[in-house]
Amino acid sequence: MSHPLVIANWKMNLPSKGISEWVLNEMISSNEEKDFEEKTSFFKFMGVCPPISHLSELKTLMNFGHFGSQDISRFQDGAKTGDISADMIIDRGCTFSIIGHSERREFHNETNDVVSEKLKICLEKNILPVVCIGECLEDYNNGDTLDVLENQLKEIFSSIISENKLIVAYEPIWAIGSGKTPSAKEVNNIHQHIKDIVQSVANINDINIIYGGSVKRENAKTFFLEKNIDGALIGGASLNGREFLDIYNDFMETL
Ligand code: PGA
Repeated sequence: MSHPLVIANWKMNLPSKGISEWVLNEMISSNEEKDFEEKTSFFKFMGVCPPISHLSELKTLMNFGHFGSQDISRFQDGAKTGDISADMIIDRGCTFSIIGHSERREFHNETNDVVSEKLKICLEKNILPVVCIGECLEDYNNGDTLDVLENQLKEIFSSIISENKLIVAYEPIWAIGSGKTPSAKEVNNIHQHIKDIVQSVANINDINIIYGGSVKRENAKTFFLEKNIDGALIGGASLNGREFLDIYNDFMETL
């Protein structure tokens, strides 16, 4: 695994007790045996995506891990009200960005073509892209998961040539926030398939596949033990700093 990542995706939420509680009490004091100053390298596979409005506050409290945005504009600059550009998130200290999350697709009508444009911008600007794909429940029940993913990947990746690293996040839509997940073995097989398709349609070698959708402390390790699962994208459970850190520690134990 060249650049696995365990990502906290806070979405449009803040930790219920606030950001400083999340970092200082839940993350740090619950794991006092770790020297956070010296062990920056221990957290090199941790990423946090707060709402961009709260990134500066988080960064002043957290001197480890990587910071990312939950989305970026497909445009570079100019009259695009509400958008935040790649350069702007870089300026704020983000090194990666989630793109194509199913909530962007559902609530903002993002298509695979739009995701592909965002992917190109990330690669051009040296932002590590975390490209989300996933099938709906009906597709899963009909046994169409692999076809749906193949279609998404072809549309997003077919014109991409890059030597940059990138991450694909496999997030079955029906698993997000539902408490349900596919089995770890199923996910492992799907991840192999994803890797094969990306490498057959695009000229990209350095790719990691992470899983997202109802990852919690109780199930995280079963996913991390699988060969093709290189990390996780975690929504609900990441709002609790202690749980997120526990999941991260489980991940590090499986490396
Ligand atoms: P969840 O969300 O962990 O709350 O299921 C995952 C995601 O949407 O990235």
